[in-house]
Amino acid sequence: MRDKPLIAIALLVVLVAVAIGYAVGRKTTPAPPQPVATTSTGPYMQPAGAGTAEAPPAGQQIDAMRRGIPINQEGDPPLMAHVENTDIKRNRAYPMQPPTIPHSIDNYQIDKNSNRCLLCHSRANADKFQAPPGSVTHYMDRDDQFLATISPRRYFCNQCHVVQTDAKPLVSNNFKDIDTILSEQQAAQPQQKAN
Ligand code: HEC
Ligand code: HEC
Repeated sequence: MRDKPLIAIALLVVLVAVAIGYAVGRKTTPAPPQPVATTSTGPYMQPAGAGTAEAPPAGQQIDAMRRGIPINQEGDPPLMAHVENTDIKRNRAYPMQPPTIPHSIDNYQIDKNSNRCLLCHSRANADKFQAPPGSVTHYMDRDDQFLATISPRRYFCNQCHVVQTDAKPLVSNNFKDIDTILSEQQAAQPQQKAN
């Protein structure tokens, strides 16, 4: 084979090229993501995914729902909450709060033709399933007339009622229900009460 030296040289060139490519490539491959430089406001600039880190006070954030993740980064969404299927009612925070649903509603279809919730919660069926019937407001039209069947305004139950989950509040708040406020007021004026 007269071409032997030629092939050898070609192979050598390819090898050198690969070696150089490898060396250069190692230099230019992006370094593993570094934490974003923190500013004087400290934890305000958290790397994306620092969902578990303590977020700065809501007032210092552009949008507290971002949990302190900088506006130019996409954070990891919080884990999906688990539905609690306990049959235990939760207290209502105010008198007209739609009660939370104390059972899971997986695959309960609500559409134009069928409403799974009404299978148990309609006035006619509630006794068979020992479910609380939807209250009288659910049978009132917008002129406060009572209808025989559930009012179209109340047809899509999960427009107002949500299942109970173990989700933590996305944004902290200092809501107090009226009973708490009333008992605080009473505690603040003990002498007046004694007289
Ligand atoms: C298989 C029957 C059944 C179906 C279907 C059903 N529920 Fe219930 N629901 C019950 C029962 C029974 C209770 C009483 C508490 C318990 O046992 O979980 C209840 C409780 C509730 C409560 C609590 C009421 C209160 O006073 O606290 C709400 C709200 C509720 N359901 C809404 C719904 C909605 C909305 C749907 C449809 C997405 C639905 N339910 C589908 C049986 C049912
Ligand atoms: C527009 C909002 C809204 C919709 C839609 C709605 N509800 Fe309600 N629901 C409420 C509110 C508010 C209450 C609590 C005050 C009251 O009873 O009106 C309530 C109360 C209830 C209760 C508790 C009744 C009681 O006596 O304690 C049940 C059960 C219930 N709803 C079931 C349903 C079902 C089933 C649907 C769908 C067919 C539905 N709701 C649709 C707002 C709604």
